[in-house]
Order: sequence, then structure tokens, then C-alpha cells
Amino acid sequence: MTTLRSSEWYGGDDRNAYLHRAWMRRGVPSSAFEGRPQIAIANTASDLTPCNAHLDEVAQSVKNGVYEAGGIPLDLPVMSLGETLVRPTAMLWRNLAAMSMEEMFRANPVDGLVLLGGCDKTIPALLMAAASVDLPAVVVPGGPMLNGTFRGSPLGCGTGVWKLSEEVRAGRLDQATFLRSESSMIRSRGHCNTMGTASTMAVMAEALGTTIPGLAGTPAADSRLLEAAHASGRLAVEQVAAGRTISQVVTRGSFTNAIVALAAVGGSTNAVVHLLAIAGRLGIELTLEDFDRIGADVPLLVNLQPAGAHLMEDLFRAGGLLAVLDQVADLLDDDPITVTGRPLASYLGTNPVWDEDVIAPRSRPLAPDAGIAVLHGNLARDGAVIKPAAASPELLVHRGRAVVFDSVEDFAARIDDPDLDVDATSVLVLRGCGPKGYPGMPEVANLPLPPKILAQGVRDMVRICDGRMSGTAYGTVVLHVAPEAAAGGTLALVRDGDEILLDVPARRLKLLVPEDELSSRRVPAATADGFAAPDRGWEKLYVDHVQQANTGADLDFLVGSSGAEVARESH
Ligand code: FES
Ligand code: MG
Repeated sequence: MTTLRSSEWYGGDDRNAYLHRAWMRRGVPSSAFEGRPQIAIANTASDLTPCNAHLDEVAQSVKNGVYEAGGIPLDLPVMSLGETLVRPTAMLWRNLAAMSMEEMFRANPVDGLVLLGGCDKTIPALLMAAASVDLPAVVVPGGPMLNGTFRGSPLGCGTGVWKLSEEVRAGRLDQATFLRSESSMIRSRGHCNTMGTASTMAVMAEALGTTIPGLAGTPAADSRLLEAAHASGRLAVEQVAAGRTISQVVTRGSFTNAIVALAAVGGSTNAVVHLLAIAGRLGIELTLEDFDRIGADVPLLVNLQPAGAHLMEDLFRAGGLLAVLDQVADLLDDDPITVTGRPLASYLGTNPVWDEDVIAPRSRPLAPDAGIAVLHGNLARDGAVIKPAAASPELLVHRGRAVVFDSVEDFAARIDDPDLDVDATSVLVLRGCGPKGYPGMPEVANLPLPPKILAQGVRDMVRICDGRMSGTAYGTVVLHVAPEAAAGGTLALVRDGDEILLDVPARRLKLLVPEDELSSRRVPAATADGFAAPDRGWEKLYVDHVQQANTGADLDFLVGSSGAEVARESH
């Protein structure tokens, strides 16, 4: 066996080795320091990240597996990001979480990692960190909540809130009934049970090869999650013995598989930003265009909210990701291996679909092409994305007049105004919501419609924003406009009444204003006033260094890897 990284701390009999062992002993047998792999369990459990609060129990199962395989498990609580509470947006700290995790992985005597995540940003941050330190790493996604129901129908996390609150706004649901649904929605431990960002990133982790195949989507309350956590602990020890680091597992072809999976399951648009950032850490060239090129023609097979009917428990029951991948196996790259050392492709060919209403067979897809469309034009010179499967077909080619909002506050103040100059064909534009502008690129792009339009029975309009959209949301929403308004994007120059052309089949997003007029326009004062201008702290570092959405919104100095080299002694 190769020399363990941790032996740089524990090996030998000099003063420093004594020091490292002595403080760690506390009842641990001497054999712990004699060549047994030290496995850090990076745990994002927190009471303020309720979706991950159960991960301490999962960690215990991982520990048992690590011990059983001869390793030493080590709890490493890491920065946790809960999607629902932190303000202005959890995305502001994805890179900080990744940076702090990376530093602690490298600074400590650890040989391998088990990554426990769940809520939206946690798995991306863990994977970015693991990639930048390049140790052996296994992901255990914490799993979705059990299905919720309300008035006899499935009530999905997030999606249910958006739908019911629109019904209240349209005057078709009373407030008391709306509030009663609250406790029906969050029924158990686990993360959101729609195909939102958390579920999507668990699926992405499996498609990238970083989980035990078949694990993603195992409900948080299911005993099989603990069984898999135990097996993942064992696997972490085996990976160290095999010297199988994350960069050997996750290759360019792994991203092809992730993009195919993203389309087939109808995953969250947020995965685009996260996958680009993870690829950036691994030094793998992945572009926004790859999502369109690889994913656009992939059929939509999974009938889950927000676009469809069911919830994650149903997907797991119907066969899970492996059953989905079996249907599109011809589109996958056969070469990439998984954390087990076996190719992902070797797990395919034997996974039946148990419920064709949840996982449609390839011959009868829910939509023939489900991927993410990447738009270009003078309004998004570096690209913007839209998820056609979550949009209204009749709006995919649309020309309309802009109604512009300079901030979410501006939007909130005016959208309910009966005198707002808007009709069903208008295009709602919200700016100042990109990585730099907000800061942190929040999930605000799925703007609620004006009440007077809702009253006409209209349920969708074209919306354009430099922010993100919750993975649990839906609608004809153009997202991730790059460059954002606060980074010199044309979006900052749009005026009320300007005509905008959206042409998804042609992949175009155009502001129909002559270029010479555009170049004479200045960013309005109210718009610029809305851009974040922090003068200290993390926000300052973030705004000064964050890159645009089209490359993953990572900080410029965090792209790439520094490896796992052991630094100089501390004493
Ligand atoms: Fe945590 Fe949705 S709020 S996964
Ligand atoms: Mg979210």
C-alpha cells in the first residue's frame, strides 16, 4: 500500500508525531496511528439547515462502515447552507463553504472523505472542495422527504407553495386553507421532494460517479439510506487503498452523463451553474454550450414536480436514476468509472421501470427534447438559459414589450398596481439579481404575475432575469443572463416599452433596439443604485472576484485545484 497522507502526522517517533498522536488518543487504540486510513466525514448537519438535520445519524452509519473496513472515521462538521432561511441567498456562500471545506480537508491528517450533503448548495460546495483538494471522496446524499399530500393530491416542497400562493393571488383559494397546507408539505426529515435543486444535485452526484450507483433519491427516512451510508464508509477506505481520487472518477465523460441525466429527469437549471463550477475545480473544460449540445435532444422521462406530477419517493419506487439511465443508455459515455471503481455503464441494462407513469419509457417520453436551451443575443452576449420543458409552448417564440424592474423591491412595490402598464404579451424584466448585483444570484427570477393578468386566467408570461430560479419553480423564464446588469450587461439598458424577442428554437434573445441607440444609453441611476456595493467582509471579496453565471459563478481565484500536498509543520 502507498504511504498514507496521514502518516506525515502520525508516523515516526519524533516530538511532532508524539504531539499529533497524543492529543488524538483519548481512548483510541494505538493501531489507529499505524497505517489505518483516516476518513473525514464532512457533515453539513445543522438545525438551521433543516433539510440536513438528520445527517448526524447518517454519519454514525458511515462511521460504522469505516471502522468495519479498518479505517478511522473522523467527524468534520463543515459550513452548512440552508436554502430557506439565510439571506440574501445561500448561493452567496456556496464558494465560501467550498473554500472553507477545501482548506480543512487539506490542513488535517485525512486520507479520504465522505461527503454528507442534501439541501441545495451543500452537495455542490462539497464536490467543489473535494475536487480542489483531490482526495478520494464518496458522496452520501441525505435524501428527500417523504411525499406530502394536501386535499388528496401530492403537495411538493416549493412547487406547492408557488402554485397555492398564485391561487391565493388570483382569489381562488382562501388564506386559511393556504396556511393549513403548511404542515402537510414538510412531512419528514430530508430535503425537498420535488425535482428541485437538492434532488437534482443528488442525481448529478450519482451521474458523475461520486455516489454508490443507485443511491440518489433514497428517501431520508428509508432504512436503506443508512445501509448505503454504511457501505459508503467501507468504500471510502477501499478508495484510499486503491488511491482513487475524485479527479480519477470525475472526468469529461462524467459530465456528459450528468448532462444527459439532468435532461432526462427534468432537473433544476441551478445544476448548470453548479456543474460548471465543479468542472472548473477539476480543470475540465465544460461550457454552457455543452449543456445545449449534449442535453437539448435528450427526452424527458421523469414525471416529477415542478414540471410533472409525482415526487421523489415515487421516482425511487419506480426504479430511481439507474432505471432512467437504462432508458437513455445509448446517449451516455460508457467509460467514466464510479467511486466503486466500476464504470457507471456496468450498472446499466438490468434496471426495470416499475411505474411507467413516473418514469416514462424511451418510446413514449413526456417531451421529446428536455434539456436546457442556451440563448444568445445582444441581451445575453455570454449566454442565458431556459428550461423549455417547464415553459409554455406558445411562449417559446414570443415578441413583447418590456416592463422593467430595477430590483426585487421595485418589483414588489409596483407589480400589484392596477395601473401598471402591462398586458399578457408583455415581457417582465428583473435586473440587479446576478452574482455581483444582488449579491449572490438569488432565486427570484420566477416573478409572480400581475394580479390583473392572473384575473384574466393567464398563468404564464415571458420573464427575463440575471438571477436564478428555484429548481422547484416553473414558467417561461429566461435565467442566468450573462453578463448580468451589474457587470455591464445590456440588461441594464432596457427601458419600459422596448421590444424583446425570445426565440427558443433559434436560441435567440434580442433587445430590438438599434445598436447605435443602445450605445448612447446610460445605465439609469435607479438601476445602478440597486447594485450591491459592499465595502468589507465576505460580500466585498465575493463581489470583487465572482465570475459570471456562464462559467459557474465561482470566485476567480478558486477555480482549479491545489491538490492534497501536506503543508509545513505547525510547531
Ligand atoms: Fe433544503 Fe429545498 S429547502 S432542499
Ligand atoms: Mg432552491
